[in-house]
Amino acid sequence: MKLFDVYPLNDICIEKAAGSYVWDDKGEKYLDMYGGHAVISIGHTHPHYVKRIEDQLHKVGFYSNSVKIPIQVELAEKLGRISGKEGYQLFLCNSGAEANENALKLASFYNGRKKIIAFKKAFHGRTSLAVAATDNPNIIAPVNETDNVIFLPFNDEAALESAFKQHDISSVIIEGIQGVGGINVASNSFLQKIRTLCDDHNAVFIADSVQCGYGRSGKFYAHDFAGVDADIYSMAKGMGNGFPVGAISIAPKIQPKHFMLGTTFGGNHLACAAALAVLEVIEKDDLVNNAKTMGDYLMAELKKLPNITEVRGRGLMIGIELPEQLNMVKKNLLFKHRIFTGEAKPNVIRLLPALNITKTEADIFLQAIKTELNPV
Ligand SMILES: Cc1ncc(COP(=O)(O)O)c(C=O)c1O
Repeated sequence: MKLFDVYPLNDICIEKAAGSYVWDDKGEKYLDMYGGHAVISIGHTHPHYVKRIEDQLHKVGFYSNSVKIPIQVELAEKLGRISGKEGYQLFLCNSGAEANENALKLASFYNGRKKIIAFKKAFHGRTSLAVAATDNPNIIAPVNETDNVIFLPFNDEAALESAFKQHDISSVIIEGIQGVGGINVASNSFLQKIRTLCDDHNAVFIADSVQCGYGRSGKFYAHDFAGVDADIYSMAKGMGNGFPVGAISIAPKIQPKHFMLGTTFGGNHLACAAALAVLEVIEKDDLVNNAKTMGDYLMAELKKLPNITEVRGRGLMIGIELPEQLNMVKKNLLFKHRIFTGEAKPNVIRLLPALNITKTEADIFLQAIKTELNPV
């Protein structure tokens, strides 16, 4: 059997990783400014993370959600405290799409409505409702098409008000910083407007924090910059530092009923051990503040460089928009300088490094991109 060929691949095979570095099968060392797509939050193969998962595996790796799993409670308490949402309730699943799928479903259970507001350039995942709320017709199969999702322009308060007047809205789903869409920051006043309109109409505010959450923006959730709480936060990626784990954090006003949500693998012992190890390192090493400090530094330095159209983002979620003629920069960074970065269309380089990246590592990246922006 061969692999189902859905990914255009770089001809690189990673065999080893530590901190912000990875090594290929030829022993070449690469700086990872991509974090495997915002997944690596505390650095590759962090010793505390490896030990916590290993220790857990020797005790019990999995048992189903039909029994008490105290490590889930421990995770809920720690996440509630560190995220500043102590009164919230945790539902564990396995991926970002699944988190959003459950969030959208839960909102509809809560208010009995069907219409969802999503935004232009949004990405919420590939399962049925999550992909229907994703602004990319190429990945929406005919079976996923629905008129229950209304797409509005991002950061357009008038369009939002008008949609609430015209439709019976169940939920509004928004990334605090759009990732796949090219690093677009939701304005504070837009998020505040969503809060007000959701309150006025008993709709549910869903903060998709799958990519921008877990400390990456310099606050635990990127939506926190607006000073208002969402009703549901979805998360995944950085939550497990590579171990597949996702979750939704749910406001107290949304009450559970038995069997309304469920999962086989979600919240298994091993996933909880991985997620706890991540939170322990984030807390001990003050990584949310490091994301802010290093993000501010990178953005300030990038803004001094020539030939960049725009630098956008917050913390360690940074987009560098380049003019069309510089469309080789990302490839050159990888193959000439051995630095992984992410991308988004049109010609945006995305930086999503580990939250414990050092100034030395940031400087290596800055020096490399400087050379590429000043071709001799
Ligand atoms: C904002 C956002 N939401 C949801 C998802 C889907 O997450 P997953 O690939 O874990 O299903 C992604 C993945 O890139 C994302 O960036």
